[in-house]
Parts: sequence; C-alpha cells; structure tokens
Amino acid sequence: MAVLSGPRHLDGSLGAAAGSDQPGSGEPADLVIANGRLVLPTGVVEASVAVRAGRIERIQPAGSNLPARRLLDARGRHVMPGLIDSHVHFRTPGLTHKEDWRHGSRAAVAGGVTTVIDMPNTVPPLFDPARAAAKAALIEGSSLVDFRFHLGVDPQRPDLLDTVTPREAVSAKVFMAGHHTAPHVVRDAAQLERIFRIAARSGLRLVLHAEDDRVFALLDRWRPGPSSYADYEPMRPRSGGIVAAATVIDLVERAGTATHVLHVSSAEEADLYAAAAASGLPITFEVTGHHLSFSDHDMLRLGSRIRLSPAIRQPADRERLWTAVFSGQAGTLGSDHAPHLQAEKCRPPAEAPPGLPGIQELASAVFTGMRRRRPDQPVDEQVALLARLGATAPADLFGLGGRKGRIEVGGDADFVIFDSRATWSLGASRVQSKCGWSAYEGWLFTGRADLTIRAGEVVHDAATGEFGAPSGRWLAAEPMAGPVPVPAGGGRPPDRVGVRR
Ligand code: NCD
Ligand code: ZN
Ligand code: ZN
Repeated sequence: MAVLSGPRHLDGSLGAAAGSDQPGSGEPADLVIANGRLVLPTGVVEASVAVRAGRIERIQPAGSNLPARRLLDARGRHVMPGLIDSHVHFRTPGLTHKEDWRHGSRAAVAGGVTTVIDMPNTVPPLFDPARAAAKAALIEGSSLVDFRFHLGVDPQRPDLLDTVTPREAVSAKVFMAGHHTAPHVVRDAAQLERIFRIAARSGLRLVLHAEDDRVFALLDRWRPGPSSYADYEPMRPRSGGIVAAATVIDLVERAGTATHVLHVSSAEEADLYAAAAASGLPITFEVTGHHLSFSDHDMLRLGSRIRLSPAIRQPADRERLWTAVFSGQAGTLGSDHAPHLQAEKCRPPAEAPPGLPGIQELASAVFTGMRRRRPDQPVDEQVALLARLGATAPADLFGLGGRKGRIEVGGDADFVIFDSRATWSLGASRVQSKCGWSAYEGWLFTGRADLTIRAGEVVHDAATGEFGAPSGRWLAAEPMAGPVPVPAGGGRPPDRVGVRR
C-alpha cells in the first residue's frame, strides 16, 4: 500500500491546497483514497474519496485533483464501506478468558470490519438496558471498531424490554434453545408471545436463535449422548430449526414483530423464512460465514472446531444458503464470532462447547465461496454483494444507516480496501482472536482486506500487520422505521410501533 505523506495532489505534485476543479475551503482533506473501484450504492465506479474530520467529504472521478494530507493509492483494488458485523460474541464481561474486546476488535479490523453489534450472553448477561452504558464504559479505550449491543431477554423479566430506548439498543436477542454459553432460554410459549408483543410495541427488532429446545430435549431423553464429535449434528438436527421456524412465523403473523433470524442452517428454514418474507411478513434472516463454508463432511477433519449452534449441516444445505446469498433472500452476513479456548473445544464429545472465531475470516471466506461457485460473475458484482450484505443491510436493519454502511458524502469515513485478486492462507500465528485458532487454517482464500479505515484513520494494514488506535466508540442508533405492516387477517396489529425516546 503506497502511503504518501505531506499535502499532495493526485498527480503527485506537492503544493498549495486549493484545487481548481473542486468546491470547498481549499484546505487539503485529511485523507484521500484515490483511484480505487469505489463500491457506491449506485454501483462500482473508479473514483476517489476525500475525508475530513472522520466523515466522507466528497467523491470525485478518478484522476481528480484532490489535495490531501495523506493519500492512499487504491488503484486496482475495491474500496468498500467498512463492514458491519451484527453478530459477534466478544465475551465482555465475564468470559474474557475466551475473547476480549482488544483481541476481538483486532480480528474484526483484520477482516475489514469497522463496526460490530455484540451479543448479550455474557456473564452477567446484558438484560437491563440501564447497564448498557456501563458495558460501553468497560469497552471504550480498547476497541478498534465502533460498536453497539443487542439487548438480552431475561426469560423471567421480559418487561425490561419496555424500558429500552434507541440509545441502548434497537434490537433484542432471544435464545429459543440453549447450550454452554447460552443458558437463558425462553422455553415458555406464553412468555415468548409476550416478548414478541412487547418488542412490536417498543419498536424493537428481535434477533433470534430460532431452534426449538423442546425438540432437542425430547431427542436427548430418547437416545444416548454423542460418542464422537461427528454425532453432534444428528443430536441437534434440522428439525429443531424447522419447528422453531413455524413458531416464529406464527408469532410474527400475529404480533407484527420485526424479526431477524440468526444463523439459518438448513435448506428448509431458508425456504420457510424466504417464503414468509415474500408473503409480506417483516422477517429477515442471517447467513454465517461458517454455514457457507463448511459441511458435516468437514467434521471428520475438524471435529469440535466446527461444532456450532445451530449445527453445520449437509452440503445441500450449504448450497441452499449460497442461493439465498446470490438471490438476495438472505438479509445479512454475520460471523457469529464466538470463540472458545482450544482446551474447551478438546473436551469429550458431550461437553465441547459450540462456537468458533470467524470475524477475521468472514469477508475472505464469503468472497472465496463466491468466486469458486460463480467464477464467471463479474468481480464488481460480487464485491458489491459482499458490501450490501456485510455493511449496508446490517446498518439499515439496526439503525445505523444514516451514517454507516454506504460510501456517501456526510457518512462516517469507514472503509475497507479490498484486493479481490489476493490469494493467501491463514496460519494460526496470524489469528487475532484471543483463542488463537481458526477452523479456516490452511484454507486458500481469494480476496483480502488490505487496509481497514475507521473514521478516516487506518486501523489495520495487512502489509505491515500494524493496528491503529483503539478509539472505537459506542454508537447511537436511529429508531427503527415503523410501523411494521401486519397482513390482513394476521391478527391484532401492535398497539404502537416506533421507539420512545
Ligand atoms: C454462541 C456462543 O458460544 O456464544 N455459540 C454458537 O455456537 N453460535 C452462541 C450462539 O450464537 O448461539
Ligand atoms: Zn445463536
Ligand atoms: Zn451467536
């Protein structure tokens, strides 16, 4: 990456700030990223982008004379909006032996991610909106990325959701099934319905771990526990997700709750949620990097490293999820970055916890999968798809669309300079997560985040391995755009939609 310093013009000449072909004060911009393939909401164009005070100041055709204090030459590479990972478990507070914010945010920026939305299943969990500011205070000073939180739902006190304002959260996570790091499960049907109704009333988007715990409990009572890691998928089968999908779709029909279903793992669930969305219900779903990258065939080689909740399923499921990505059915891409220590993963088959680190690998794993499956599709289209599902869509779903997720004038100057031709492989020594391992070790990736920029500052440079300053901020979000439409005959509309301030 060529980094030139001192006030310069794009033709390389040092000199006075005022450019003849541009408006503005004539002061050099803080940063210009020149001549890259800019992934704009309207398409991919060769252009330069100027940054001032952490915001995007202007976008000019490539070759424009844009004076800058710092100039990055992105020729031959794509400039995407900084990626937004709306599904991470950075384990703060209470589980910081697995991951902490310093390591997690390093993994994020190494993967081109500049904003994360963290999950509440920490110790203690984030159930009470009044504790969000304290959690933010714990993180501030150690984060390379900007951040928000999904609120948790206490199965005993769903009414806490009624007290949330957009500052603390615009979304709440419900675990309909549990495991080692997800002990707070909503099992009671009436309670679940209350939660859907409160969320609709409060203008909160529910984000769901939608597997049915009763299905798993029934099967567990019926047959013995696993004797090998490969027994895991049949123990946590697709029926759990399919039964939960029926419940979720029914509740959304009746309550009108905006609902984002996380980590969809099977072909059947993808069909059900896509069909529900097509019928007009406010349902979207997430696909993870690992469900797109692995199948149960990899279990023999990778063992509990790819033990996930929901489980990694068959190749046909993985390919159905790819169809959801290419066709626009999938709402977002998420990493579900959920590290566990190697020693924890090495526990006997019945006890190894589900979850893997994945934020560093997400963009490259997904882009590699795109190139392998559709080598003839134009690279610009695939990079634009990655930007849409990995930045624009999560920004819009979670109240950040006014300032993040797109390269547009006035927005936050968060970028990833992405080399679509780079091939590389990830060794354990380059894993940034505190857990120190990756299920993708040895993969040959296509596409790499060369340079990650947040608020106009370089936060990771792949060429040097250097990181920037941990000055990531707790973000404010805009309230969700309501009201949520309830289809005719779909039951009582919510009393009120829209977030109180
Ligand atoms: C996650 C974790 O470990 O916190 N594990 C996982 O397998 N995905 C929790 C979760 O998202 O269910
Ligand atoms: Zn989950
Ligand atoms: Zn998760």
